[in-house]
Amino acid sequence: MAELKVHPIRRIDAELEIPGDKSISHRSVILGGFADGETRITGFLPSGDCLASLAAMQAMGVEIDTIDRTSYIVHGRGGKLRAPAESLDCGNSGTTIRLLAGLVAGQPFTTRMFGDASLSKRPMKRIVDPLTTMGAILTCEGENLRPPLVVKGGALKPIHYKMPVASAQLKSAILLAGLQANGQTVVEQPEVCRDHTERMLQHFGASIRPGEKRIEIYGNTTLNGKDLHVPGDFSSAAFWLVAAAAMPGGRLVLNKIGLNPTRTALLNVLMRMGAQIKENVECNDFEPYGTLRIEEGGKLKGTTIGGEEIPNLIDELPIIAVAGALAEGTTIIKDAQELRVKESDRIATVAHHLREFGVTVDEKPDGMIIYGGNPIRSAKVESRHDHRIAMAFSILALFADAPSLIEDTDCIATSYPTFEQHLAQVVAGDVAGKFRIGASLVNKVKRLVKSGPQKKAANDETSEKE
Ligand code: S3P
Repeated sequence: MAELKVHPIRRIDAELEIPGDKSISHRSVILGGFADGETRITGFLPSGDCLASLAAMQAMGVEIDTIDRTSYIVHGRGGKLRAPAESLDCGNSGTTIRLLAGLVAGQPFTTRMFGDASLSKRPMKRIVDPLTTMGAILTCEGENLRPPLVVKGGALKPIHYKMPVASAQLKSAILLAGLQANGQTVVEQPEVCRDHTERMLQHFGASIRPGEKRIEIYGNTTLNGKDLHVPGDFSSAAFWLVAAAAMPGGRLVLNKIGLNPTRTALLNVLMRMGAQIKENVECNDFEPYGTLRIEEGGKLKGTTIGGEEIPNLIDELPIIAVAGALAEGTTIIKDAQELRVKESDRIATVAHHLREFGVTVDEKPDGMIIYGGNPIRSAKVESRHDHRIAMAFSILALFADAPSLIEDTDCIATSYPTFEQHLAQVVAGDVAGKFRIGASLVNKVKRLVKSGPQKKAANDETSEKE
């Protein structure tokens, strides 16, 4: 099991190439494989989650040519997938299992999907209900409607569905089924949540009318494959945005980052907390993307996060909690009960881990109250197989009083395979800036950060302490 020893730093001055967006990458192979004709994808995220979607589409007869790790040509099957010979392994990915459930609901065969221990705990009732109403037969082999999930697909009826939760995975499952139903399907969302499926369906020529909270889609129309570029993942950028915004004098440049407004609510939160962030949209293709810049990080102050902004920063809440710990005053996170059913129970995990780092927290059913601005002490914490927990607490560790240990970090590769390299780059930048040293020491620091399993525990007062 990999682990990460993270050394505290006092300076951030970095320019990083953030890998492709996870949500858009999933949809690029799923919709490209379903459409008619070729889809050329560049900027694809070669992470565990997205490769699970890619392999699942291949298992259903989609031919995919690999140009390199981030570029593919998908030969779409014009709406007719092939029955997979074996169960589909969705790994850790809720997006894979839920979106594919909607897709195969309209196909005349049975598909069984399963995942790892974390995915096996995630609720499927939210997709089982509407897809069953549309005419598919769904069975969950796990207790309380948990995976493995078996979908017997076939002819579908359109539906008018009011979603009980603002979940883009649920919305997408219904839209992918609606795409194959005979007539108009309407989905109403209680709050606006990420709209990548709607945008990509439009890009591929679907008959879809996306309103703010109400989306209409007409079934039995042909999708046409199209080239697309996947921008950098805002949710991965978020770790560095918080690090630079909290670090006095912090500087950061991130290029070609996805700036879809249904994803970037973190920017408003950080600006409310006192950060100065420049956002420059440079391309407004089917998805907007551009540059994010922080020129002078510094003291953050606490804020309240809740209500309609929650779905637009749902994946950023662990790192927002870290920002709260580093901010002066109190930060309140509320209306975020969805966090309890993510890759881990992110409310319980974040509250527990913050306490390990010496932060005072009150855990609430739908969030937490964080009393920030006190010194961060080094700690040893475990990811609980949750990639965003591993990364969020690696960032907090940069602000601690001594090296910290983050255990079980293999899961980081599900969404951000180059995170450790970027962490090494940020740490090396700090050392280089402070001591004006040569490249060999910078490389040594990179090796130290990347060096996999370490024998020494956290709080080990070695010479690394600053
Ligand atoms: C995703 C939607 C979100 C998010 C997940 C990716 C997507 O989940 O947490 O990481 O790609 O549609 P919910 O829609 O269930 O909130």
